[in-house]
Amino acid sequence: MALIMSGTRKIVTVFGTRPEAIKLFPLVHALDADLRFDSRVLVSGQHRGMLDQVLEIAGIAPHHDLDVMQPNQSLDALTARLLTGIGEVLDRERPDWVVVQGDTATAMCGALAAYFRQIDVCHIEAGLRSGDIYHPFPEEVNRKVIGTLAKLHAAPTETSAASLRAENVVPDAIHVTGNTVIDALHWITTKVAKTPALVADLAEVEARFAGKRIIGVTSHRRENFGDGMRGIANAIKRLAAREDVALIFPVHLNPNVRAIMNEELAGFDNIALLEPLDYPHFARLLDICTLMLTDSGGVQEEAPALGKPVLVMRETTERPEGVEAGTARLVGTDEDAIVAEVTRLLDDDSAYAAMARAHNPFGDGKSAARIADLLAR
Ligand code: UD1
Ligand code: UDP
Repeated sequence: MALIMSGTRKIVTVFGTRPEAIKLFPLVHALDADLRFDSRVLVSGQHRGMLDQVLEIAGIAPHHDLDVMQPNQSLDALTARLLTGIGEVLDRERPDWVVVQGDTATAMCGALAAYFRQIDVCHIEAGLRSGDIYHPFPEEVNRKVIGTLAKLHAAPTETSAASLRAENVVPDAIHVTGNTVIDALHWITTKVAKTPALVADLAEVEARFAGKRIIGVTSHRRENFGDGMRGIANAIKRLAAREDVALIFPVHLNPNVRAIMNEELAGFDNIALLEPLDYPHFARLLDICTLMLTDSGGVQEEAPALGKPVLVMRETTERPEGVEAGTARLVGTDEDAIVAEVTRLLDDDSAYAAMARAHNPFGDGKSAARIADLLAR
């Protein structure tokens, strides 16, 4: 039995989806290794397979797993399951801090359940704002709700800290820590360098597409369901008609994404539709690609750090830093606009070179240690 020193801070870290797990494993590692903390992990299981992929590679065995995921879950039923489930665990654990990350339903319910018990909330990746409550949906509002409740706001950049100050969050509660995604990316890159077998599953696709320029694709945003997803699929088909290009698309497990992509994109020579890649394989995709085409939040942060241009299939972004630095560009979901922007990058070397600069506005890889120090204060 582990001995817990008196004066240690009990932390319950709550997460449930793939991106939260990726961005929180560096903090969980830091808390586990630090005698100032008694660290507990509560996973909601909002995602199942995609969460478990991260837990496995990061070596995290949760203390609590609510296993809430249901097929094609609605936001309201999911929220109800999360709020009651997380609340019951917090009643048993009674931590000093609840840590949540980002903007998911799990993060919002984790913060709310803590607030209902007057437990202090630490929000990681605080202060991102698009200014539009329907883009990203429902994440913009989730983030604002958490921002209202949190006692400690770990803002990744000065821009996100300024957004919190503009909403009258007490300045002393805001700390610019960088984004833990860069910690995660460094960790996985080092691990893969030591153990190349971790990325062996991509070898077949890489051999099939040898000599072609690779475009990595991900897509899952709720606000893109329907017409947006169809625009993305049509653009991919047109791009795949080029001999010199191949597209690697690990398809999100959300059935609203899979139905359209499987229907529209299966069977093309230059398109590899894959199951979700685990983090080592996804880091490999980031490494071998010429550019990323995505509506993901996390990929907007990772690709610039690796000097890969990222075309963002959204109307707005709560991560303007990459766009301002010129390494990311908003292209929306219109088929013609996507094809035009990708074609420009593929055919115009100077346009490509202008975007393909390693630029790291989101952190230096030491964010988890900074956050641990803040939690220990
Ligand atoms: C969720 C988050 C979103 C985040 C995204 C990251 C909310 C409201 N949405 O969206 O902010 O950007 O995760 O990927 O919090 N599914 C599986 N297995 C999995 C994961 C999902 O089968 O491992 C399927 C299930 O049918 C599930 C559906 O996908 O019901 C939707 O999952 P959900 O977490 O509600 O929404 P996401 O679109 O994944
Ligand atoms: N990712 C992954 N495998 C994939 C696609 C993405 O490991 O097949 C990682 C990616 O590196 C990033 C995170 O998942 O860290 C982004 O998750 P997602 O796009 O699902 O959510 P978002 O960041 O948009 O909330």
